[in-house]
Amino acid sequence: MKNQTIVIIGANSEIAKALSQQIILDAKNHDNTQLIVISRDLTFYQQESFQQLHSACLNSINVKNYQEDEINLAVSKIDLIAMFEITKVIICHGLLHNKKLQPEKRLEDFSAEAFTQVLSANTITPMLWLKHLTPILSGKGSCKVVVFTARVGSISDNRLGGWYSYRASKAAMNMLLTSAAVELARRAKNIKLISFHPGTTDSPLSKPFQKNVPEGKLFTSEFVAKQLLTIVEETVIDGKASYLDWQGKVIPW
Ligand SMILES: NC(=O)c1ccc[n+]([C@@H]2O[C@H](COP(=O)([O-])OP(=O)(O)OC[C@H]3O[C@@H](n4cnc5c(N)ncnc54)[C@H](OP(=O)(O)O)[C@@H]3O)[C@@H](O)[C@H]2O)c1
Repeated sequence: MKNQTIVIIGANSEIAKALSQQIILDAKNHDNTQLIVISRDLTFYQQESFQQLHSACLNSINVKNYQEDEINLAVSKIDLIAMFEITKVIICHGLLHNKKLQPEKRLEDFSAEAFTQVLSANTITPMLWLKHLTPILSGKGSCKVVVFTARVGSISDNRLGGWYSYRASKAAMNMLLTSAAVELARRAKNIKLISFHPGTTDSPLSKPFQKNVPEGKLFTSEFVAKQLLTIVEETVIDGKASYLDWQGKVIPW
């Protein structure tokens, strides 16, 4: 097993927490994996139960918000504390609903303010991370950058409609990733971009929409974390962006 640093961004996401636990379990008895977690809320990582799980391989960076200055500062900190080459970056931001915002059922529900918020969380924030991380990842060992999107971001697979803002924000993220892959194929051939659909997973994001999920189709975050880590390991660096689901199957853009 090679030495590696793994970075998880938006680490208070339910799936991110399971990923962190799995990475630390996998790294147990090896002194060769450093995990850096970044979030506005690191409470989970400060709990005694989590502290007992890991040894010295966990570092955390608390951000006040996801404005560009704050992201830039966090990336400088990553560069400073990374002990090994960064082999994986997993960006977990996702906003579907909050107290003031619900996914749209019909055109009349669309609101500029809600769309702006969703686009900021799901598209602009991950893109700013990619922008600031690229210089510290370029030209080194292989690095896979995963951005969590969703199958509903697929334009060709859109049969149900609705959820205008969420769908559009994830489709826009896919376009940004495919464009970035073209640029990185020229200037940073060691970086692979993956747009990842975890499947419907039990988390605060999916909570209000779980009623209609068929039996056996609501995944635990632990299951998705294991799937993703295997898929990332198996994905080859090929100068293209991949859009993959929880089974590792390609989703049509
Ligand atoms: N759960 C599902 O069924 C499902 C299905 C398809 C796709 N996904 C995607 O999978 C990813 C992880 O989802 P999850 O279920 O783990 O979600 P979650 O537990 O609700 O976590 C929310 C995540 O979004 C970040 N976030 C929330 N509001 C934000 C804002 N205004 N600006 C920037 N970041 C914000 C949080 O960052 P902090 O750490 O700073 O709080 C956290 O990383 C998301 O991209 C989601 O769209 C989930």
